[in-house]
Amino acid sequence: MKKKIKNNVFWVGKVDWELRKFHGDELSTHKGSTYNSYLIQEKKTVLIDTVWIPFSEEFVENLAKEIELSEIDYIVVNHGEVDHSGALPALMKYIPDTPIYCTENAVKSLRGQYHQDWNFNVVKTGDKLDIGNGKELIFVEMTMLHWPDSMATYLTEDNILFSNDAFGQHYAIEELYNDLVDQCDLFNESIKYYANILTPFSAILRKKLDEIISLNLPIDMIATSHGVIWRDNPMQIVEKYSEWANDYQENQITIIYDTMWNGTKKLAEKIAEGINLADPDVVVKIGSLAKSDYNDLITEVFKSKTVVIGSPTIGNNILHSVASFVHFIKIMKFKGKKAAGFGCYGWSGESVKIINGLMEDAGFEIIGEGLRSLWNPDTDAQKAAIDYGKKIAVS
Ligand code: FEO
Repeated sequence: MKKKIKNNVFWVGKVDWELRKFHGDELSTHKGSTYNSYLIQEKKTVLIDTVWIPFSEEFVENLAKEIELSEIDYIVVNHGEVDHSGALPALMKYIPDTPIYCTENAVKSLRGQYHQDWNFNVVKTGDKLDIGNGKELIFVEMTMLHWPDSMATYLTEDNILFSNDAFGQHYAIEELYNDLVDQCDLFNESIKYYANILTPFSAILRKKLDEIISLNLPIDMIATSHGVIWRDNPMQIVEKYSEWANDYQENQITIIYDTMWNGTKKLAEKIAEGINLADPDVVVKIGSLAKSDYNDLITEVFKSKTVVIGSPTIGNNILHSVASFVHFIKIMKFKGKKAAGFGCYGWSGESVKIINGLMEDAGFEIIGEGLRSLWNPDTDAQKAAIDYGKKIAVS
C-alpha cells in the first residue's frame, strides 16, 4: 500500500523484517531492512527506484493496485544494485518503452545485470527533468557513493532529496520517519552502515558533501533507499556523515582476538585491565572473533583510536579468523588509527610480527614490537600484559 510522504509524493517500497544477511553473507542486518521506492504523481508520474529481486512480483502487483502501470511517465534509477533495481525486469514487461533516467554507469550496470536494452536516458549532475505543476527533478551524480553508478535526485518545491543508499540504514520500520523510531537503534544502525559500507569512500564523500551543500538546495526531507526518511532536522545525518567522513574516532581502544586454548584470551583481558588502569576515561572493548559478528566489530574499529589485535601462533602464522578480519580492516582503508599486536605461542612465535606487518600494510601506525607470551600466561606474563595495556593507553 502506498503511503503519502508529502503532497503528491508516496512511499511504495518494501519492509523486509526477516533480512539477517546482505550483500550475500557479507553484511549482518540484525534489524532487517527496507527497500524504499517512491512514486511522484504530478502532471507526470515518476517512479524512483524499485525493490530487491525477491520482492519484485509483489512490488509490481502492489503498484498496479495504486495506479495503471501505463501511467508511469518516467522511471528514475538512482543506482543499479539489485536491491533497488531488482523489480525492473518484472515491471518493464508491462511498460517496456518507459524512459529510464540514470547515470552512464548505471546503464552499464543495468545492462550487465538484466541484459535488456531499455529506453535509457543518461543524466549528469545538474540535469533537470520537468514533471509539471512547476516542479522539476534535479539529478546529482554520487559517483562511488557507493557504486560508480550512484546518483541522488532532488525534487524542487517539495524539497525532497532522494539520496538512495547515502544516509540510509538497514533497519526495518513501518513508521517511515526518523522522529518516530528508537533513536538509539537509528544511530547504531546508521553508524554501522557507514562504517561497513562507506568508510573506504570517505575522501570522496567529503568532497560530495561540500558539493551538495554548495548547491544551496533547501532540503526538507532526505528520502533514503534503506531505513528512515529524515524529516525531522534532515541535515543532522548530513552533519554526522561529515563527522564520520573525517577520519572519525572516539576515545576508544578495541581489543580483537581469537584463541585456541584461552592463553591469548587471557592476554586480551589483562591488556584491557592495563588500559583501564592507565586511563580510566578511555572506553575499552574486547571482541572475540570466534564469538562476535564481524560487521559489529568493524563498527567498533571505526569508533576506535587504537585497535589491539591478538592471535596465537599456528603453523608459523596466525589464525585464519584473525587473517580474515585484518583483511576486512584493510579493505575499509581506515585513516589515522594506531594498532598493536599480541599473542601466545608454544614454539616458533611469529604471530605478533605478522599481525604488526599486516596492520601496518592496512594503514595503521604500529605501537612498539607487540607482546609475545610463551605458553599459557603465568602471573609474570599476565603482569606483562597489564603493563603492555598501560603502554598502549598512553601511546
Ligand atoms: Fe542499497 Fe548499493 O544498494
